[in-house]
Amino acid sequence: MRITWHGHSCFELIESLNILVDPYIERNPVAKCSVGDFNPDLIAVTHAHADHLGNAGDIARRTGCLVISNPEVARHLDKTGARAEGMNIGGSYSVSDVQFHMTPALHSSGMNEIDPGIYGGEAVGFVIDDIIRIYHAGDTGLFSDMHLIGELLRPQVAMLPIGGRFTMGPREAAIATSWIRPEIAIPMHYNTYKAIEQDPAEYQELVETLCDTEVLVLDVGESIEY
Ligand code: NI
Ligand code: MN
Repeated sequence: MRITWHGHSCFELIESLNILVDPYIERNPVAKCSVGDFNPDLIAVTHAHADHLGNAGDIARRTGCLVISNPEVARHLDKTGARAEGMNIGGSYSVSDVQFHMTPALHSSGMNEIDPGIYGGEAVGFVIDDIIRIYHAGDTGLFSDMHLIGELLRPQVAMLPIGGRFTMGPREAAIATSWIRPEIAIPMHYNTYKAIEQDPAEYQELVETLCDTEVLVLDVGESIEY
């Protein structure tokens, strides 16, 4: 599988499907790509915050691709002309041979920038089971059911936020990594803005003291094959 980080929490996963997660592109100050570069089969959105929902609607309306998210975000996208399907925590959704498992996240999901009056549902994460299993945690604080995510869904790769302030910081993310025990962990949701400045080496060093997981610190736009 080809995994590309586009900064913040935006990842492109290419194997049997072309999957885009949290496509925050146009207003992402660190992104090196543009909205028109993407032609995914499916977009997964972890919650309604603008730095995650991002350009999901624009890309879905242009390409006709499917978006999956929580029911409230899916309904919003559907109303605005995108093709969207809702699902919820603990459930799975299959597209071709790829399964999307929705996991809890300890966060909020207000549609603050769209309409503060609309309830944006619950923030979530995904374990995407294609040829390998990938956990994208979304925005989250540390929670002990990450043990369960590791045990039940056994992700081989985990993308975890380390920026602090709105999510886990390096220390919490390192503990999360030791609970999930993926083969590879990729830090995300840091150094996009001043408020979430972090040194990913701090996370990497902490993980090394706790477990055997290999931390890969990617540059924005960098891809790995796994
Ligand atoms: Ni958020
Ligand atoms: Mn965020």
